[in-house]
Amino acid sequence: MGKILITGGAGYIGTHTCVELLNSGYEVAVIDNLSNSDRKSLERVKQITSKEVSFYEGDILDSDILGRIFEENKIDAVIHFAALKAVGESVEKPLDYYKVNIAGTLELLNAMKKYNVKKMVFSSSATVYGVNNPAPYKEDMPLSATNPYGTTKVFIERILDDLYTSDNDWAIAKLRYFNPIGAHESGLIGENPNGIPNNLMPFITQVAVGKREYLGVFGDDYETRDGTGVRDYIHVVDLSLGHIKALESLENKKGSEAYNLGTGKGYSVFDIVKAFEKVNHVEIKYEIMPRRAGDIAESYADVKKAERELKWKADKDIEDMCRDSWNWQKNNPNGYK
Ligand code: NAD
Ligand code: UFG
Repeated sequence: MGKILITGGAGYIGTHTCVELLNSGYEVAVIDNLSNSDRKSLERVKQITSKEVSFYEGDILDSDILGRIFEENKIDAVIHFAALKAVGESVEKPLDYYKVNIAGTLELLNAMKKYNVKKMVFSSSATVYGVNNPAPYKEDMPLSATNPYGTTKVFIERILDDLYTSDNDWAIAKLRYFNPIGAHESGLIGENPNGIPNNLMPFITQVAVGKREYLGVFGDDYETRDGTGVRDYIHVVDLSLGHIKALESLENKKGSEAYNLGTGKGYSVFDIVKAFEKVNHVEIKYEIMPRRAGDIAESYADVKKAERELKWKADKDIEDMCRDSWNWQKNNPNGYK
């Protein structure tokens, strides 16, 4: 137990991870510039856990504030969520993505090195498997990317590997998330996208709550069971618990290791729509649209390495994910506003 610095801790996965860390007895410091989140999210974390985090509103590109955080707190390890994450936007604004994701990570790593904090859990993504590997994806498959967002994740993984090679004191877990959905069962925290959602589940919940008329299904002619895209959806609370297991593994394991965090099961767009309608007793209108550029037919994880080495396994099923996503959205139709 000790104090963990969470970058991007006011965001979707960050808030859920704050809750699980606090509930497990860790102390938490958060740096977040609120560029894609609301400070109310951390008040909700307090409401759920009855515990405070030390919050620093600031940018991971700012070495002064990073220095201040390491001076004022005895940090044992860092969980690094802060990043820009919209694939389409990354194609329009590659320099922003390289700056925040890559230069931001370098700033953070330099501060960690200076203060001799050499344990990091990094948010990578299944996107690093690119478009040429067959599912299920295994951690030792070759990595590639088709857009600047994905490229930042591939580059950072490589930077972390090089850092460990240069100094074997580092202990790094690179967690490749599949498709996080769902929300804390309290309905107090959840995913809160700005503008029109890019991802499937927030779009579905916005249709359910009446903010959007229908879901556009991006292609029904893929080589999958029902023609729609297949993904490995994972409940955000399971994902957060995976971070705690990864942190624990860093206590006695140096290196730079990648782990898939998924359920190992693939569900199609139609599977998700049907499950959502069934558990929540709402209708989701949809229309078939053309394929979305850059999408692949199917993506799901081989989860054996995380089971074996982290002693972690996702527990919640697709109905839990649909129920909790809806519980969050219907209680907070305008997010934290
Ligand atoms: P999010 O946008 O909700 O959270 C990211 C947080 O980082 C936000 O609160 C944002 O304000 C903050 N932030 C952004 N730039 C910052 C900066 N320069 N300085 C300080 N704070 C900054 O996103 P999320 O879904 O919680 O994702 C967290 C991480 O997981 C990201 O690295 C993302 O790439 C990765 N990831 C997410 C998914 C997904 O589907 N949600 C999938 C794979 C990987
Ligand atoms: N989809 C629709 N309609 C929508 C949104 C999505 O039909 O309005 C479909 C997609 O075509 C895909 C599936 O629903 O088949 C899931 O799409 P998401 O956008 O929710 O998720 P992706 O797997 O495409 O993207 C996620 C992350 C990215 C990451 C990528 C690869 O959001 O950050 O996985 O790992 F890069």
